Amino acid sequence: MTPVGTHPELWGQLLDRAAGRPAAAPTFEADGEAACVFWRLYAGVAAPDHRPFVIGQLGQSLDGRIATPSGHSHYVNGPEAITHLHRLRALVDGVLVGVGTAVADDPRLTVRHVPGRSPARIVIDPRGRLPEDAALLADDGCRVIVVQCANVRRPPRVEPVTVAERGGQIAPRDVVQALAARGVHRLLVEGGAQTVSAFLAAEALDRLHMCVAPILIGSGPTGITLPPIERLNAALRPVAEVVRLGRDVLFDCDLRG
Ligand SMILES: NC(=O)c1ccc[n+]([C@@H]2O[C@H](COP(=O)([O-])OP(=O)(O)OC[C@H]3O[C@@H](n4cnc5c(N)ncnc54)[C@H](OP(=O)(O)O)[C@@H]3O)[C@@H](O)[C@H]2O)c1
Repeated sequence: MTPVGTHPELWGQLLDRAAGRPAAAPTFEADGEAACVFWRLYAGVAAPDHRPFVIGQLGQSLDGRIATPSGHSHYVNGPEAITHLHRLRALVDGVLVGVGTAVADDPRLTVRHVPGRSPARIVIDPRGRLPEDAALLADDGCRVIVVQCANVRRPPRVEPVTVAERGGQIAPRDVVQALAARGVHRLLVEGGAQTVSAFLAAEALDRLHMCVAPILIGSGPTGITLPPIERLNAALRPVAEVVRLGRDVLFDCDLRG
């Protein structure tokens, strides 16, 4: 399995494509196979063939856990996988988490490990659980959008987006449409498990990046949970490319089939 590597020139071309700037055709002679893997992994995120485009990601252990029972999740995956996550952030218009992750991890959701600009930060917080001092509310020039289903008062720099509930949940496809109407056409759903699972169950993801780390946590929340099926022939079997990220293995799943 070819490691994905770092390819500064290709990365610059991907950032150009993501920003809509004219970009030279990529050349792969220098690093051969690794450069092709790198390009295939990111080109469809930088310039998807349709919009809105939604990619989900989760990092999990060999036994399918995303955190310990107390919610400690830093870090399941190794440094190359963290860099990969920052690359995804740099290529999209918006990065979205559920309020469970915003409260448990207090993430910044910025791009720090690679060159590139930080996307809009989006939280699904139906009932106003997001603390006013959450790190993702930092005043750094990036948009902050909160998706809610009730009229909740938010700090002045937050753009509230109110989406109607259906059966106690906000339908992920409604979230995607509401964000696209506000200019967020490429969306990364970064976690946690409930949020990514809801988007997957609603067929609102085009791609899913599952990054499996060689660690056994033994107990704690698991990654994807979907409505039960009786027989395996009803299971999702996406076409997947398998890529090495340091010691971790990334399954790049195409869900459009
Ligand atoms: N390993 C990884 O890749 C990774 C990534 C991110 C997070 N994490 C870990 O995951 C854990 C948090 O995940 P989680 O699954 O508990 O929570 P989560 O998915 O981050 O947030 C779930 C909450 O967000 C709101 N929400 C999300 N989608 C909604 C929808 N469609 N409709 C209505 N409400 C919606 C609900 O808030 P209300 O409860 O207010 O209704 C829901 O309870 C933490 O331990 C974190 O460290 C791991």
